[in-house]
Amino acid sequence: MSTVIKGGTIVTADRTYKSDVLVDGGKIIEIGENLSGDETLDASGCYVMPGGIDPHVHLEMPFMGTHSADNFEIGTRAGLAGGTTMVVDFCLPSPGQSMMEALAIWQQKSGAACSDYSYHMAVTWWGEQVFNEMQEVVDRGINTFKHFMAYKGALMVDDDEMFASFQRCAALGAMPLVHAENGDVVATMQQKLLAEGNNGPEAHSYSRPPEVEGEAANRAIMIADMAGVPLYIVHTSCEQAHEAIRRARQKGMRVYGEPLIQHLTLDDSEYSNPSWDHAAQRVMSPPFRSKQHQDSLWAGLQSGSLQVVATDHCAFTMEQKRFGVGDFTKIPNGTGGLEDRMPMLWSTGVRTGRLTMNEFVAVTSTNIAKILNMYPKKGAILEGADADIVVWDPNRSKTITAANQQSCVEYNVFEGREVVGLPRFTLTRGKVAIEESTVKTEPGHGEFVGREPNAPVGAALSKWKEITAPRKVERRPELMPAGV
Ligand code: URP
Ligand code: ZN
Ligand code: ZN
Ligand code: ZN
Repeated sequence: MSTVIKGGTIVTADRTYKSDVLVDGGKIIEIGENLSGDETLDASGCYVMPGGIDPHVHLEMPFMGTHSADNFEIGTRAGLAGGTTMVVDFCLPSPGQSMMEALAIWQQKSGAACSDYSYHMAVTWWGEQVFNEMQEVVDRGINTFKHFMAYKGALMVDDDEMFASFQRCAALGAMPLVHAENGDVVATMQQKLLAEGNNGPEAHSYSRPPEVEGEAANRAIMIADMAGVPLYIVHTSCEQAHEAIRRARQKGMRVYGEPLIQHLTLDDSEYSNPSWDHAAQRVMSPPFRSKQHQDSLWAGLQSGSLQVVATDHCAFTMEQKRFGVGDFTKIPNGTGGLEDRMPMLWSTGVRTGRLTMNEFVAVTSTNIAKILNMYPKKGAILEGADADIVVWDPNRSKTITAANQQSCVEYNVFEGREVVGLPRFTLTRGKVAIEESTVKTEPGHGEFVGREPNAPVGAALSKWKEITAPRKVERRPELMPAGV
């Protein structure tokens, strides 16, 4: 059965024009005037855009002694409700666990996904087994490897492990991702704060200042350069990390930065709220920052020094957050956002004039598809592309509230925000999953999206040439020290 999206204005990362879109068999088969199909979706007054891609989510993730509350079914439904048609989750082997074993667990968990999905693979420990399995992971269509520079004693990897893994990525044509925070410094500051009696959620943000993030971002960039590999820095939240990315890019390094919608729109005053629950709900790493850092992130999206907007969706219930009463280091780190990313970015970005509509499409979809190697299957309104489409009504509005959200947690960090700009229809591979406030999602409809590696390029990506040509100096025997 074919579907025609009629009377709308197509908005892509580089063009805005009036046209109909004909969809069949899950793909876009024709773009043109006066098209007809078995079914017609009225897009008059709307923008027809590539569905959003969230490059960073944690659905049902084992973390800090519990699991994030939204599973693949709930999380992908939340995404679709907000115009996001694909998510990329993190497959997380526990230290010592085989990547293939973890992958099998993730494949099972994602079986009920309502939209398409892909995975990044986390490198949580290092050894010959990991080195070998990385090839197999790439062969399974996963071309990105995540490294946690924080969460000491749990997921954190050290510099030697990171350097080894980055070099392996270079050889395989894969790209490393980093959570950039100096985990040693964080752990020390946490203990100091607790010893001084600072055990509330506000201390979470004191233990992770922007310098902790800036240092780690710089370090990861230099290590990536020495390994000759591009680098993607997740949840870039502050000027110090952004500055490191800008400087690296100016030198020709392929470094990408990913602000979250939360960091763009919420600031550190949230932690001063007199309600423990309110502050704990907003505990995530990196923490929310001051307005000055927000301005830096917006400037990055405008100038292109930051390329994508994600959510890091990792929702915990109040019961889970309260594990940390009396000790902020036990509050599970993470916030939701999957349903709100697109409406919040439209409202605070496009409607304020900070972003053009085309830039909105680029940072929520097209840039992500390109950087993660799935363009133009995803992230495009083009004949032959997957029909992951959002028909965006710029005049529909709502007040965000937990009472009406898809996520299963009982609060929303954007509670009370008025958003203008919402999906009229969201299509996942041609199927209407959302029609205004009617949810028609199908658990199990989602498919895994494999992503090819790049050609290994190694030294061509490095500004640090020496490593490629070590040269042993021949010494004159008569000048050698005696006895050698
Ligand atoms: O606080 C966060 N961001 N939780 C999710 C795990 C991570 O670090 O991305
Ligand atoms: Zn578990
Ligand atoms: Zn992280
Ligand atoms: Zn994350």
